[in-house]
Amino acid sequence: MSFTALTLHTPRLLLRPTVPDDAPALLEINADAQVARYLSRPAWTELAQAEARIAQDAADMAAGTHLRLAIVHEGRFVGDCTLFDWSRQCRRAEIGYVLGRAAWGRGLMNEALTALIDFGFSPAMALNRIEADIDPRNDGSAKVLERLGFTREGLLRERWIVAGEVSDSALYGLLQAEWSQQARR
Ligand SMILES: CC(C)(COP(=O)(O)OP(=O)(O)OC[C@H]1O[C@@H](n2cnc3c(N)ncnc32)[C@H](O)[C@@H]1OP(=O)(O)O)[C@@H](O)C(=O)NCCC(=O)NCCS
Repeated sequence: MSFTALTLHTPRLLLRPTVPDDAPALLEINADAQVARYLSRPAWTELAQAEARIAQDAADMAAGTHLRLAIVHEGRFVGDCTLFDWSRQCRRAEIGYVLGRAAWGRGLMNEALTALIDFGFSPAMALNRIEADIDPRNDGSAKVLERLGFTREGLLRERWIVAGEVSDSALYGLLQAEWSQQARR
């Protein structure tokens, strides 16, 4: 299955595969130290990093091993969201998301992830479980997950070392049955 032609629409957003022209906006977002504060890698510094990520995503999307969609708001690239580490056998994947600072605080990520999760649990991917691994100090990210109905399932100590800084992982999970139950309410 290829995800190359996948687009999702929400009331305010278009979600679509990333394209080479996104590279400058992708770099600007990921070069922001406040955006990168709790990510699993340091802030980017080079356009080549954005270009390489877009090229890798194109290959992974064509192979159907990994899903990453640009988040477009009012015609502008404002961030992206992904379902990665997809295990077909266990029907689970991990969710990741990044929004440029100018777009924070308006519920845009909640809207984007609602569409992404709907797709993940739909017959197209047929996931049974979506999980997230976040820095427990990342209050904005925890709020996003909790509002979507994720359960905090555990804490893994000193799991990451990013640019010499050691940090813990808070693990969250959402089951397909829980998501469809919420949708019925
Ligand atoms: C995490 C992130 C996606 C949140 O996006 P957002 O669009 O601002 O999220 P929302 O507007 O839906 O806000 C979600 C909730 O978190 C709250 N919130 C946002 N930032 C917060 C912060 N720094 N501290 C505490 N609460 C915060 C909002 O008030 C909102 O609360 P509510 O649901 O009670 O209204 C965004 O801040 C981001 O991209 N950060 C950098 C990248 C990152 O850390 N990604 C996650 C990696 S695991």
